[in-house]
Amino acid sequence: MHSIGIIGGSGLYEIEGFEKTEERSIETPFGEPSDVIVGGTMAGRQVWFLPRHGKGHRLLPHEINHRANIWALRSLGVRWLICVTAVGSLKEAYEPRHIVLPDQYFDRTSRRDQHTFFGNGICAHIGFGDPVSAGMRNILAEAAEAEACVVHNGGTYVNMDGPAFSTRAESEANRQLGFDIIGMTNLPEAKLAREAEIALATLGMITDYDCWHQEEEDVSVQTVIGHLMANSAKAKKIIARAIAEVPETPNWPEHDALAPALMTPQEYWPEQ
Ligand code: ADE
Repeated sequence: MHSIGIIGGSGLYEIEGFEKTEERSIETPFGEPSDVIVGGTMAGRQVWFLPRHGKGHRLLPHEINHRANIWALRSLGVRWLICVTAVGSLKEAYEPRHIVLPDQYFDRTSRRDQHTFFGNGICAHIGFGDPVSAGMRNILAEAAEAEACVVHNGGTYVNMDGPAFSTRAESEANRQLGFDIIGMTNLPEAKLAREAEIALATLGMITDYDCWHQEEEDVSVQTVIGHLMANSAKAKKIIARAIAEVPETPNWPEHDALAPALMTPQEYWPEQ
């Protein structure tokens, strides 16, 4: 059955309005996901929920096994994915507690072998010019507007490695390059979701102005958590609305992303 996945970030470890039916511990060819995946129904749809950092926030960004997370979700039939994540703002207008739906990414991560399913004889290069599913992003935008949130529908997310936050020089350089928001986790998810032919969009919760703003405090874990807690009820309502709007048939361009990408003539993902 085609289903919807939710990867929850800091401050979002479970979802309300979701009738839990089961838990799955999944072993993948890439190791173990961040946690058990909780299955249930919402608005009549099958939904799978995975906390990115594990329950109780046990995993740092570089300790997250993104390949196992996305592989496990795909093995459960996930073809649409909502990622919820805290982000820092690099622009005055993107204020803490606003919502941002990134439409572009800039990769400043390392460990690139961890950010693809391919290799070892399977050769593929996915197209990533438009890394976010426009269909899924617009569903989130409408849901956020209906919940009376301030939402920025678009923005460039620069993905740093972390776990330390940026230096002021890095923050300034990121601003000069025109990036809008910064985070440590979402870009590998977007790459792997595209390889897995999953339509992904991200609900970014703005929590701070990083360390470039003259009048605001530098980012700290306390500021991030404070803003996230204040906004997590909203995130849950947005997700509930969005799920009801997700189509049942996976026929968006992202659902066929491997057709022009695979150089080895074979099917990678089994029919579900
Ligand atoms: N997540 C939330 N705020 C952040 C920041 N300023 N830098 C990197 N990741 C973040």
